[in-house]
Amino acid sequence: GLKIVTIGGGSSYTPELIEGFINRYDELPIDEIWLVDIEEGRGKLEIIGELSKRMIEKANVPIKVYLTLDREEALKDADFVTTQFRVGQLEARAKDEKIPLKYNTIGQETNGPGGLFKGLRTVPVILEICSDIERLCPNAWLINFTNPAGMITEAVLRYSNIKKVVGLCNGPIGIEKGIAELLNVSRRNIYVEFTGLNHMLFAKNIYLNGQNVTKEVMEKMIDQEDSIGLKNIEEIGWEPSFIKRLGMVPIGYLRYYYQTSRMLEEQKKSFENEGTRAEVVKKVEKELFELYKNPNLTNKPKELEQRGGAYYSEAACNLINSIYNDKRDIQTVNTRNNGAILDVDPDSAVEVNCVITNHGPIPLTTGELPIAIKGLVQQIKSFERTAIEASVTGNYDTALLAMTINPLVSSDRDAKKMLDDLLEAHKEFLPQF
Ligand code: G6P
Ligand code: MN
Ligand code: MN
Repeated sequence: GLKIVTIGGGSSYTPELIEGFINRYDELPIDEIWLVDIEEGRGKLEIIGELSKRMIEKANVPIKVYLTLDREEALKDADFVTTQFRVGQLEARAKDEKIPLKYNTIGQETNGPGGLFKGLRTVPVILEICSDIERLCPNAWLINFTNPAGMITEAVLRYSNIKKVVGLCNGPIGIEKGIAELLNVSRRNIYVEFTGLNHMLFAKNIYLNGQNVTKEVMEKMIDQEDSIGLKNIEEIGWEPSFIKRLGMVPIGYLRYYYQTSRMLEEQKKSFENEGTRAEVVKKVEKELFELYKNPNLTNKPKELEQRGGAYYSEAACNLINSIYNDKRDIQTVNTRNNGAILDVDPDSAVEVNCVITNHGPIPLTTGELPIAIKGLVQQIKSFERTAIEASVTGNYDTALLAMTINPLVSSDRDAKKMLDDLLEAHKEFLPQF
């Protein structure tokens, strides 16, 4: 049977994963799920563990759940390792969101200065996990949801010996569902060609019954502007002529780049009214864990949908299922580009449609990036690579370089101030600096 290890197992998202595995048990005969967390997460881990056991018992499938704080013990002979941890937890996220705002800069956990710092904290940890995997379960697949997922996939590809790595985001599924809803058709009838990077993604071509309907989708998006989005990102209307001429559906995160000043104002307002997204999520989590504690709860509660990561179990479980069963279906994942996007280095991680086989994802070619987005995609890739180098070396100047070349940062002076401020705020989790 299969052994799955989930690092960051005490996460409020874990019931998503358990539900996904239960639903696929017939095809995906999992023997053991090991939920791993750190000392600070022990309380959450225990609640999640008990709920998982109840869900599994109710579903009457023979999956055994193990809880541990010992990562090495868990990893021994694993088949799949999923990662969903947050270094420094929501406290750290709140700082990534708050501090840049002082400098009139977007505060977000996967974009701009916040994204840089999330990367600086996380890359060293994922590389440690990779060397554990190399020793303890060298044949395992690493399925990473930890953000910034694109940067993490890139770091694993370039700085570890692990080749069996796939990065995941719920964004593509969300966009696809949004488009199907807009067209009022079932998701099975559309095909969406995605191109770009994690959280820098575009639905480039949309087909319905063999016809390219991208133009129609863009028209509809203008009429019903709030229909394609993620729970965690404010939605403000797109300038109709802009979005029409762009001719692709951008993931919600692109709002930070194409609506920068407007999103900054939105953030200031909403942070004032309800706190940062981290603070909102803290409240949601508190409620969720209250529900999870209830010994009568034996399923994933509806309230989990308040989080931005909806459908992430669908993404993760489908991926694992297709690798294990060599399904050769098409899923959108972060993997080595290998020429799928002509304007991005073949060795870099990209988020594109792939055929999922038992030797991993085979990326499907999407050709050249449309000229309007080529520069931004390449710039973000340059930023990611510079950020990873800073994470690995702990070099201050490299970190400042990464901060300054980020398109959301408007000057070298502000970059330095933000860098110093964030380095101080996060120093506990940045031993390399
Ligand atoms: C998204 C992203 C995830 C991210 C999540 C945040 O949709 O794709 O990568 O982690 O939302 O959601 P949260 O509820 O934590 O703000
Ligand atoms: Mn994501
Ligand atoms: Mn800049």
